[in-house]
Amino acid sequence: MIKITVSSFKGGTAKTSTTLHIGSALAKFHKKKVLLIDFDAQANLTTGLGLDPDAQESMAPVLQGQKSIDQVILKTCIPNMDLIPADTWLERVEVTGPLAGDRYSHERLKEILRPLKYDVVIIDTPPSLCWLTESALIASEYSLVCATPEFYSVKGLQRLSLFLNNLGQRHSLKVLGVALSFWNPRGKSNSTFLDVIESTFPNKALQNKVRRDITISESSVFGKPVFEIAPSSRAALDYQAITKEILNRM
Ligand SMILES: Nc1ncnc2c1ncn2[C@@H]1O[C@H](COP(=O)(O)OP(=O)(O)OP(=O)(O)O)[C@@H](O)[C@H]1O
Ligand SMILES: [Mg+2]
Repeated sequence: MIKITVSSFKGGTAKTSTTLHIGSALAKFHKKKVLLIDFDAQANLTTGLGLDPDAQESMAPVLQGQKSIDQVILKTCIPNMDLIPADTWLERVEVTGPLAGDRYSHERLKEILRPLKYDVVIIDTPPSLCWLTESALIASEYSLVCATPEFYSVKGLQRLSLFLNNLGQRHSLKVLGVALSFWNPRGKSNSTFLDVIESTFPNKALQNKVRRDITISESSVFGKPVFEIAPSSRAALDYQAITKEILNRM
């Protein structure tokens, strides 16, 4: 079982869209048994799969020792792909209940996931370096970094790189790749952005990029990935290409 945390400490870098589409491409086109974990109180991944975050239990009661992980796993519209939803309780979960007094609370997620039997687990994280993000990274073998072709996004990668290197010294965490979204193939500053990424994460930028495509936000309205709504869209093609590249790197 391979666990991947999708991260970037910046908002709106397509972390949730990337989690949803790589997960569903692995399940749909590569016959992998996939579990997605929505580890962000915004619960966009949960809503993006057509589920109501207020009507479901999240990882929070499992982290607090009140439920077992089997009790919070849901089926999704994609056969072979399950989801652990998010809810607002996830926010500040670490300062409530037994987690508050636990010095090793960051390691708890890793222990909880250990008995699961999936091929791939993908964890979507909030846009900050909070307890949730750190716990997800500690539980994972790989981190998939998300970025957009904008100055603040690529500059922010330097801070992320320092943090990941630091964690990687104490845990078995490797960077799987850097996925660029909202890509404009004719962007004037593309080579500058790619240079900054190359110097921060050498050889990690994925060759395939996700171009800007309105189909992504349209499909979230239907609560389904683009493969179900617009299988020949740019986004569907780009995410299939990225998924193949990631499989080769794993
Ligand atoms: N390639 C794309 N082209 C056009 N729109 C996109 C693309 N990828 C994502 N979007 C849209 O951009 C918005 C932000 O994407 P998403 O929610 O995946 O980012 P995020 O990094 O998870 O954000 P947050 O930091 O708030 O969690 C969403 O409305 C999504 O539908
Ligand atoms: Mg998100």
